Amino acid sequence: MGFVVGIDGPAGSGKGTVTKRVANKIGLINIDTGITYRCIALEVLNQNISLSETEKIIEIAKRIKITIDNTPKTDIVFLNGKDVTKDIRSKEVTKIVSQVSSIKEVRFIMVDVQRKLAEGKDVIMEGRDICTYVFPNADVKIYLDASIEERAKRRYKENQEKNIDMTYEEVYENIKKRDENDKTKEVGALKIAKDSIIIDTTSLSIDEVVEKIINIIKQKIEIKGDQL
Ligand code: DC
Repeated sequence: MGFVVGIDGPAGSGKGTVTKRVANKIGLINIDTGITYRCIALEVLNQNISLSETEKIIEIAKRIKITIDNTPKTDIVFLNGKDVTKDIRSKEVTKIVSQVSSIKEVRFIMVDVQRKLAEGKDVIMEGRDICTYVFPNADVKIYLDASIEERAKRRYKENQEKNIDMTYEEVYENIKKRDENDKTKEVGALKIAKDSIIIDTTSLSIDEVVEKIINIIKQKIEIKGDQL
């Protein structure tokens, strides 16, 4: 296993933006694990499968081929060979993804995919259960949080920039529902690992959060005598 930084936190806590920047600054590969669940959710919609058809969703998870092309700015995502970078962020996918990710068998398969994506690399991996389940022995464990109002504000702004048509109220409600669902999952629930460092980003700028995380990583590297 290479060097692993795990970043967990709820939707809108800043994980995506911050993780990408930290990765670029100190030369880690960033892996956004939400992508894997979003790809399944997209395929569920494309195949017109209902959320109650669990067996069919598990079949999708077994067969799906996800490739992520990491670029400094964004991740280009291919689902069975097709570029779905934009589609996986759609309102429809965002609405059902938490439920899709609650299916235990889907999680087992996706966690396997996520561990393989990290194999032999120095990574910063973001999600909900990275420090508790995917990489419980991660070298650095961080939990990002922020108030729900602040997270909804950030996500709303981000959606506008990406031309995703959702009102602030829709974003707020979606985040609230996803929080509830993500925290009460049978497997892989959003939890703070007992040895995670908690950063409340509500009143911090992106640069401040990035700096804090880089300092934490550097300290850890010094202690371990590692080199990235
Ligand atoms: O980070 P995101 O919004 O792209 O994640 C989409 C959904 O996937 C989110 O509602 C929870 C789920 N997820 C998860 O259960 N475990 C992860 N490691 C990452 C995401």
